[in-house]
Amino acid sequence: MTTMQATSESVLRDPARVRTVNRLTVLWVLTGFTLLLILGLAGLLMRAMQSGILGNAALTWFYPILTLHGIGMVALVALVPLAGCWYIFAQRVPMSTRLWAVCYGATVLAVVLVLVSTLIGKFGTGWTFLYPLPYNSTGAWEVWSFVPFLLAVTIVVLVVLAIDIEFLWRGIRKYGSIGRMYGLEFLADPHPADDGRPRTDLATIAMTTTALTWIPAALLGAVLVVLELIQVFVPGFSISALLAKNLTFFAGHMLVNVGLYMAAALLYVILPVYAKRPWRVARYVVIGWLATTVALWFAFYHHLYQDFAQPDATQVIGQVFSYVSAFPALLVTLFGGVMLVWRSGIRWSTAPIFLYMGMAGWAIGGTGAILDSTAGINQFMHNTLWVAGHFHGIMAMGVMMFFLGTLYYAYPVLTGRALSERIGHAAAAFIGVGGWTVVLVFFLSGVVSEPRRYAVQLPGTEWLALVGMLGAVLVAIGGLLIAGDLIRSVRRPVSSPTEPERQPGPAPAPA
Ligand code: HEM
Repeated sequence: MTTMQATSESVLRDPARVRTVNRLTVLWVLTGFTLLLILGLAGLLMRAMQSGILGNAALTWFYPILTLHGIGMVALVALVPLAGCWYIFAQRVPMSTRLWAVCYGATVLAVVLVLVSTLIGKFGTGWTFLYPLPYNSTGAWEVWSFVPFLLAVTIVVLVVLAIDIEFLWRGIRKYGSIGRMYGLEFLADPHPADDGRPRTDLATIAMTTTALTWIPAALLGAVLVVLELIQVFVPGFSISALLAKNLTFFAGHMLVNVGLYMAAALLYVILPVYAKRPWRVARYVVIGWLATTVALWFAFYHHLYQDFAQPDATQVIGQVFSYVSAFPALLVTLFGGVMLVWRSGIRWSTAPIFLYMGMAGWAIGGTGAILDSTAGINQFMHNTLWVAGHFHGIMAMGVMMFFLGTLYYAYPVLTGRALSERIGHAAAAFIGVGGWTVVLVFFLSGVVSEPRRYAVQLPGTEWLALVGMLGAVLVAIGGLLIAGDLIRSVRRPVSSPTEPERQPGPAPAPA
């Protein structure tokens, strides 16, 4: 063992550091869960408004709540899996607890800024703040409310960027190079010989993909933020709306996708703990993630199919790369996950149930996304509620289920306090039935050409929103069951984890 490795090991084992890592992780998990509940209730409220049961007076609140719900959930999709990945990598490399604590404080500030922007300033463009809408509200909001919104977005972008850069830096020191973090040696030899340096694993590959795709997106996103801030203070200044839309979706599409990839990293680490089998790196997995890394840079063009001023070539590129970006990671992970569980004798406790539900959400939502990224289909589905159907499938029933699986895995390990399996199973049933009702109604509404981001629905289709609202009520019941159990767990005796499946940290050693 080199001196550097020995120092790193002693830092990782330092009891004070371990305590701080665990406390910070519990703080992130509980904060994420609380925000998920509150933002989910905002979704329920929107469906109630769209169904008409709250009357016309409530409608003025639809767009601020849409914006709050949208930006809040997108931030959660990125930050909550980031917190899980930070915990995983903090056990392998000495990730800075101070930087992570600062990130937590900054995130709390971002929450306050978004609340001020949407609930006081009534900022209501939707989470994509498409240029030049923020400056043309026709009196619905004042331009000042755009400033706290932009600052909050900037904070989220920087938090993910800071941790990605730290991860890359520490990863290169541990594994030797970015190529080794990707597992490029597996391309030449499926069973590379031991060369005295640590080998990568699936979570590291997914996180490396995240870092390499997010760094350019964050930088271009920063250009957009600066240009838009200038226009707030210098109203005579303006930029090309098409350029702004390209920048928005380059960064925005990437943000949601990296959340998904970090969620996959959590799956790679936690599911094997329950299946009691290692999930090994294989050549096809490395190829899949490499393809995804490149394709993701160009897939965002599918958001601009209806912008006829775009060069035709970008439309073709968007179509091809959307397919390429979706298939490798999706197939590699889902196929691998099913094979991992197949005949493993897994005990279906709450954590693996949520993880498996997340895989289903990724598969079904992803299929809806691939369909919509097909130009001929997008012609009909563009900006209908089909879009809400596909991203709620991927994010709400995918990434957030991975998060709940992580919560059920990590909370007892980190706090020594058990969660009730009976309540966990009941919550999974409520959330599964309710969540899929919400998503199915979005898909059906898309099929009947219901436009998205409309406070009122097409005449005669309000009942669909009402069914969606009932689905949301079931989800809320599931969420409240978990919340109640978390609160009760504080009074339960603290015990050290005994079951082998509850051991913290990375699961079975990678190949
Ligand atoms: C009970 C659960 C939920 C309900 C009932 C719900 C409902 C809604 C509704 C009604 C909309 C507006 C659709 C439209 O007319 O365009 C919406 C938008 C959205 N939702 Fe949800 N949602 C839920 C959970 C989630 C979750 C868990 C996520 C992500 C993790 C999420 C992410 C989003 C995003 C990104 C938007 C787009 C906002 C925009 O257009 O600016 N939602 N949701």
